[in-house]
Amino acid sequence: MQLNERLAAYFEWFHMHPELSYEEYETTARIKEILVEEGIEILPYDLETGLVAVVRGERPGPVQALRCDIDGLPIREETGLPYASLCEGKMHACGHDFHITAGIGCAILLKRRKQELAGTVKIIFQPAEESSLGALKILEAGVMEDVDRIWGLHADPTNEVGTLGIREGYVTAAVDRFVVTVKGVGCHGAHPDDGIDPVPVAAAIVQGFQTIVSRNVNAFHPALVSVTRLEAGNTWNVIPEAAVLEGTVRTMDRQDRVLVEKRIRELAENIARAYGAQVKTEWIAGPPATCNDGGMVKESIQIAKVRGLKVVPEESSMGGDDFSFYEKRVPSCYIKVGTGKGQLIHQPGFMVDRKVILGAAEYLAEVLCGE
Ligand code: NI
Repeated sequence: MQLNERLAAYFEWFHMHPELSYEEYETTARIKEILVEEGIEILPYDLETGLVAVVRGERPGPVQALRCDIDGLPIREETGLPYASLCEGKMHACGHDFHITAGIGCAILLKRRKQELAGTVKIIFQPAEESSLGALKILEAGVMEDVDRIWGLHADPTNEVGTLGIREGYVTAAVDRFVVTVKGVGCHGAHPDDGIDPVPVAAAIVQGFQTIVSRNVNAFHPALVSVTRLEAGNTWNVIPEAAVLEGTVRTMDRQDRVLVEKRIRELAENIARAYGAQVKTEWIAGPPATCNDGGMVKESIQIAKVRGLKVVPEESSMGGDDFSFYEKRVPSCYIKVGTGKGQLIHQPGFMVDRKVILGAAEYLAEVLCGE
């Protein structure tokens, strides 16, 4: 079978067998099976799910990595495809089935080009991207210790096949979560003077948070604070003892991230104090922002042009990707690959046009081969 047909068959299998974050056992086993059949070396890292393949070039050069995430989402598929998910309530709705297949294709092509390949390429099949923390498993296993730079790709349903989104600088945001618990004193709804009502305190905190981006962050810097859950009480005539508000902060700039956390804590504490309530603020840090390296961006655009691909400025997103954990260590470049216009990622009708697979693998192999 031609490579194109093999890749299409692999892709269909992965699409039919999505697994959620940290549960990618079958996916890992299948990737391993394919790599063995294709004669690609697998590195013996201690990983519960996910794995790392390697292609060693015959010319001296750097150690580069390509990150391909492998997990699916808890979404019921509605594409009507003949190779739709066989796993009820689970779906490859973020294109990670495409990332796996492009990674496999790239490894096969690099192996064919071993003589001209300068240095070593590690293809990282990373688990649990959707948890935002799967990259940490790869880092803990030591995979990145000898890596000089890393590339990542992502399916992009806002562009046609043959179009790449590439841009220097920040492309995905830092993703943090906060939980604020306001503790007042519960009492009868008819006698608020007997207690400390946490509800108006929580409301004031929500209002206060909405001034952080508008009043504290530089107007030229993208940032957002969303309160996404607000909970208090369970009936109509009792003032509750506590209220909880939870939400997310997205920033691009490192200093803004520190500033917003500081303001969240200050506002929650001081507003609660003004009302005589107590407050506990938890800050749960997720992945940092992804920032594309200027030199790598230039190289990847150059190669795209030579291959006749269209390059558009990559849309930055206030969404996150745990790819950024790698970027903290080495220069990186995260490229959006047009997979055909249609429903957006994380939607039940999201689809990848299979025509993109071989082209993406060839492009990535070219990028990793260097000049
Ligand atoms: Ni994704």
